[in-house]
Amino acid sequence: MYGIAILGFGVVGSGVAEVLDKNADRITLGASRELTLKHIVDIRDFPDSPYKNLLTRDFETVVNDPEVRVVVETIGGVGLAYEYTRRALDAGKSVVTSNKELVARRGVELLSLAEERGVNYLFEASVGGGIPILRPITQCLAANKIFEIYGILNGTTNYILTSMIKDGAGLEDALKLAQSKGYAEADPSSDIDGTDACRKICILADLCFGRHMDPDWLKTVGIRAVTAADTAYADRGGYKIKLLGRAVANPDGRISAYVAPHLVSSDNLLAGVEGVMNAIVVRGNAIGDVMFYGAGAGKLPTASAVVADIIDAAKHEHSRRLIAWKPGDPTMLRDSAELAGRWYARVAENENAVRGVFPSVEILGKAEGETAFITPADKGAEGASKAEIDAALADFNVLSLFRVIA
Ligand code: HSE
Repeated sequence: MYGIAILGFGVVGSGVAEVLDKNADRITLGASRELTLKHIVDIRDFPDSPYKNLLTRDFETVVNDPEVRVVVETIGGVGLAYEYTRRALDAGKSVVTSNKELVARRGVELLSLAEERGVNYLFEASVGGGIPILRPITQCLAANKIFEIYGILNGTTNYILTSMIKDGAGLEDALKLAQSKGYAEADPSSDIDGTDACRKICILADLCFGRHMDPDWLKTVGIRAVTAADTAYADRGGYKIKLLGRAVANPDGRISAYVAPHLVSSDNLLAGVEGVMNAIVVRGNAIGDVMFYGAGAGKLPTASAVVADIIDAAKHEHSRRLIAWKPGDPTMLRDSAELAGRWYARVAENENAVRGVFPSVEILGKAEGETAFITPADKGAEGASKAEIDAALADFNVLSLFRVIA
């Protein structure tokens, strides 16, 4: 028997059980063998679940069962999830997960343990939910040198920003709407403050650039400072405000990575990515730009990626997937503030004062006592660094300041 165990029977874990059942024929064909869901570990009771006979509170049952070949970790966090993942890998079982925090923080160690034990640690679902993105980076785009990756990596904040743009809602009202629709958690801080997107851009950077990028090293700014006035000014100028995670390889080999709200020009395909959808752009030296788009969260889309990894683990039982990256350290980073670019600013000044500093500025709009504009790229083709823009705006009362991406 090729047994599967699920750790954590929440939204994603229960979705995995559902997809394994629903698509059993196709999965058997893909894996070239029948996969049997044997155990589900959770501390909660699910008396009405069709899987209640598989439920146990005891992880030892899983780790000591030689018929369990793949363990699905959908617990989340870096506590119990880390301990169980280590023990499962150590016991010679492949582990498949959607846990971005664990991969972003302990990926190097867990991948190395998997290699030692000759098993797989796979995590396609950890970034972009159901969107195939990690495997394309490591396989389909493997011939490229990737010099930039960026994208909309968090569905909750994209939903909120889309409501602000479309309905003119403020952040608080848009957040309440997202919560009422079940998109945002009761405590949405890891989405709103950019932490979730930070973990995801770290995993993408790990794979694209081959070294561990720690979430604690990145400047991470969420969407709390975005106002309805900003989304309206941006919209009027043909831009959409989006929370982006971005990692750029500098010519000297150092990486600049960060999470922040950006004004995205309507020429960029990311501008049309609305609601809870995610999209990721990869820039490679052979492919040019390629974009991956789809459902970045949700029960079945995420389960779709988890089950694909289970199939892959079953197919590669005796030939490990070669996914790994090296340890990293903060010296491999270049401060993202040094990246040049154009900037959106909303300042408590009139247009004349703004034109006094930036004669060829693009004015997006004005209201009583304030002006919103986009700085020209007049410091060379690339625009200004954060220090340069701060210096240029030093005499202004700056109400909002975001990067612009063409
Ligand atoms: N909270 C995340 C999001 C879930 O909104 O995108 C998927 O990682």
